[in-house]
Amino acid sequence: MYYLNPRIENLFRIFDQNERKDYLRLDLNENPGGLPKEFIEKVLKDITPQFVAQYPETLHFTEVLAKFLNTDISHLCLVNGSAEGIRYVIQAFTSENGRIVGVVPSYFMFQVYSEMYGRNFVKVPYNEDLTMSIDNIISEMTDDTQLLILLNPNNPMGNVYSEDEFETLFETANQKQITILVDEAYHYFYPKTFIQYALNKEHVFVTRTFSKLFSMAGCRLGYVAGWPDGIKMVQKLCTPHNTNAFAMKIAEEVIKNPKVLQSLIDNFNEGRSYLIDILDNNGYQHKGEAGNFIFIKTKTDAQKIVERMKAEKKILIKSYPNVGNFGTCLRVSIGEKKYMQMFCEALFELDR
Ligand SMILES: Cc1ncc(COP(=O)(O)O)c(C=O)c1O
Repeated sequence: MYYLNPRIENLFRIFDQNERKDYLRLDLNENPGGLPKEFIEKVLKDITPQFVAQYPETLHFTEVLAKFLNTDISHLCLVNGSAEGIRYVIQAFTSENGRIVGVVPSYFMFQVYSEMYGRNFVKVPYNEDLTMSIDNIISEMTDDTQLLILLNPNNPMGNVYSEDEFETLFETANQKQITILVDEAYHYFYPKTFIQYALNKEHVFVTRTFSKLFSMAGCRLGYVAGWPDGIKMVQKLCTPHNTNAFAMKIAEEVIKNPKVLQSLIDNFNEGRSYLIDILDNNGYQHKGEAGNFIFIKTKTDAQKIVERMKAEKKILIKSYPNVGNFGTCLRVSIGEKKYMQMFCEALFELDR
């Protein structure tokens, strides 16, 4: 008997990530410049036919990563991009109709997975002034809540949590037996981390990705960090050999070359300072720059600017509606200075 899962049939997905290669892509928080070309060429020299023919060695890379994070492999599960890890945590730690609490707006896949698996995603909205009070979150952490999703920092809002705030949320979750998932996709752009909770306590996961600072979105690699029994649950959901050999090879080389990692951080910081200064000097309001993205309030219609940037300047950016007193505004990925110069030149020409 043919069967169509109605939940999947009715699920709304956006597949908009195609045909972007000829553009300057500042819409999905990638690194527009990427890793240094010489570095990539050097890594590719080690690729042999056997390397391509064999199943990937996940154990080796997990060990490299564990050393880098000062932990051991029982705390880590590699995933094919952190979006996959998020999905597994939702699958394993919530039930049908189970209550998941998360802030909105946020990374949309939390809601997509909740809908896909028939979970009850409860939205915690931002305050009018775009702040997020943890009291708003705590009031939704009811006894029947199974999972609390936090982002450090949040995409697209850029908000973060202090140590005290996180500790309070952690204590509340502990009392009510709620698992916490902290999405740290934008770690390094905002260095404060709560990974020590995932590595030293129980019922807390942190997901991280190699797509953002590590500039490897095309390779698909991420990881879930957590307590060993929780990690075993996540591992059981993984497809066999779920992370690919090229991704792990490149990530290992970046980890082994602190200079490369530092140059990515330095280039990014230079681009961010340049962008913020030039926006300030040109009378632009902006906010939320804790990650590698920023909200910019335009002087004219933001959506029109998105369209004209694409058509006339070959630059991809996004617009977001209802961003507090900014109304509809731009969200732009931050990258190294030369790309920020290209973007600003285009913005100042089109936004008048
Ligand atoms: C907050 C957040 N989490 C997770 C992801 C997924 O990243 P990936 O699946 O590339 O690791 C993204 C991607 O943009 C994101 O913004």
